[in-house]
Amino acid sequence: MEVRKAVIPAAGYGTRLLPASKSIPKELLPVVDRPAIQYVVEEAVAAGVQQVIIVTSQGKEALADYFDRAPGLEAVLAQRGAADLLASVQRLYQLAEFVYIRQHEQLGLGHAVLAARHAVGREPFAVLLPDELAISQPPAVGVAMEVARQRGGSAVVVAEVPEAQVSAYGIIAPEALEEGIWRVRGVIEKPRPEQAPSRLSLTGRYVFAPEVFDALDEVPPGPKGEIQLSDAIDLLCRKQPVYAVSFVGKRYDVGTPLGLLRAGVELALCRPDTAPAVRAWLRKLVQELADVTP
Ligand code: UTP
Repeated sequence: MEVRKAVIPAAGYGTRLLPASKSIPKELLPVVDRPAIQYVVEEAVAAGVQQVIIVTSQGKEALADYFDRAPGLEAVLAQRGAADLLASVQRLYQLAEFVYIRQHEQLGLGHAVLAARHAVGREPFAVLLPDELAISQPPAVGVAMEVARQRGGSAVVVAEVPEAQVSAYGIIAPEALEEGIWRVRGVIEKPRPEQAPSRLSLTGRYVFAPEVFDALDEVPPGPKGEIQLSDAIDLLCRKQPVYAVSFVGKRYDVGTPLGLLRAGVELALCRPDTAPAVRAWLRKLVQELADVTP
């Protein structure tokens, strides 16, 4: 079945980006000239998604404003003949149909996905984390959709991480099926390196059968009351097929200051309008560093 809906959980506090994220949702912090979440919405839309369900929380109303019409601003831009700017602003509300759900308490990623249950209904859907940018062609979530469509069940996108980093991620227990595709036999959230069943980590791109909501209902909350999506995938994969597909492309963790900076510089280097100036600046910077470093 075709995946028409994508859930973007964006209700977290974003503490790793404080103080910037105190009054601006971290998803709206810019990467070059557009908010991080726009890249993620565009990825979902490129994969065929028609409805984007954004899970928000108190203080994050600016997210809905961003993807809404701004008649006053549009009129001014039209009056000034700023056609490109006008098109860039008008494009936002035409990207998809946007639905907003409030997560009343930040009780974890799994809890945020569960908040979208009624908006999704009983159909397959995608989940994309807005603090992970996945730059690839075809879009990462689209690759997972294709695997789920062909094989049935759910599919997650995974990437290999160094052993020293497994304890920062959800790690899958994989059973190899073919090059770059595995059947998921279990998931451990943030394992110690000696506990990790592989080095394949979840990347924040998922396509779920609706039964994931039942799994989310069933998993016990953690010590701080949080419901983990990884625990629900661990449960789901014991009841019905969950596949993993390897990510091919560039990923940026834009939930941290350094990741945000890296994404900005590297993505500016990929754009014809910004690449020449950024390349020249970096060359000069490298030269200056070489001059001061013995
Ligand atoms: P993170 O833990 O990476 O994001 O959750 P965070 O909580 O916003 O940031 P830090 O850790 O305090 O810096 C991954 C995604 O899940 C969402 C977040 O908004 C983020 O996009 N999330 C997390 C929710 O929507 N609700 C939650 O209760 C927790």
